[in-house]
Amino acid sequence: MSGAQPITEISFTDLKLLRRGKVRDVFKVDEQHLLIVATDRISAFDCILPTPIPRKGEVLTALSRFWFERLGHITPHHMITTEVERMPDAIRRHPAELRGRAMLVRRTEVFPVECVVRGYLSGSGWKDYKQSGEVCGHRLPAGMRESDKLPAPLFTPSTKAAHGHDENISEAQMREIVGAEATVKLRDMALTLYREAEIYARTRGVIIADTKFEFGRHQNGDILLIDEALTPDSSRFWPADQYEAGRAQQSFDKQFVRDYLEGLAWDKQPPAPILPDEVAAATTARYLQAYLLLTGNEL
Ligand SMILES: Nc1ncnc2c1ncn2[C@@H]1O[C@H](COP(=O)(O)OP(=O)(O)OP(=O)(O)O)[C@@H](O)[C@H]1O
Ligand SMILES: [Mg+2]
Repeated sequence: MSGAQPITEISFTDLKLLRRGKVRDVFKVDEQHLLIVATDRISAFDCILPTPIPRKGEVLTALSRFWFERLGHITPHHMITTEVERMPDAIRRHPAELRGRAMLVRRTEVFPVECVVRGYLSGSGWKDYKQSGEVCGHRLPAGMRESDKLPAPLFTPSTKAAHGHDENISEAQMREIVGAEATVKLRDMALTLYREAEIYARTRGVIIADTKFEFGRHQNGDILLIDEALTPDSSRFWPADQYEAGRAQQSFDKQFVRDYLEGLAWDKQPPAPILPDEVAAATTARYLQAYLLLTGNEL
């Protein structure tokens, strides 16, 4: 059952596979519903690694569920249930592979933009700032250090590239893709979700340095928060008690795996290298730790 065997791929004969993402397999349930299954696949530098991270899919599903419930008063979301027993028959026939990692959701038309919110100066934002004094076109005060808190959270959308890297876009470019009205709505929702999550996470000793949301339009016209929410795959989480501006932080995401890979002579083109068992185990531990810290419960 849960955690015993890592799951890298889900195949059914009775449900239609719509897509295999880098991490999740998405099945059609009917016209209105999808089944999203978080596998234990891990990607780094946009490559899926050959080594799965045991229990990772469970953490992504349980943590997304936690946040959908916690933030549901701000934005309606796509989640219906993560309990396999409550899902349609075709799904309930496969409890072993699905338990803990499947989410039955409302199907939407996805807005093809990633709604990134940054509260701290890190990653590509820090690189951008060092070169230009700006982050994605937002001018910032001079003299900021790596990992500094930004004067206010920034909305820095990017494209959802079908292949390769997502590209940062301006709000004007976003308006061309999703329209002016949706741009304002998605931006305001993303910023509000981030602020509320950040305040809560602080009380749990976690800094949410940045995160990415996705939204979709339901058939009834509602805009829903979709995909995963505020997980280590979509966010940078830092332990607050070790936080110190002026350097990179130890994060709960896959930075650990990236650092290991950076130490190899790998050219970052597929196929990616196999991870040693201890790197995979340490990564599982980090995902579980993030869940425990944020929710206060062991998974
Ligand atoms: N409620 C929903 N309705 C329709 N599509 C959804 C919904 N929730 C999530 N999705 C889509 O399901 C996919 C989940 O797969 P995953 O995140 O693993 O893909 P990915 O490799 O990251 O690719 P992408 O760049 O498209 O996110 C995403 O394409 C996401 O946009
Ligand atoms: Mg994704």
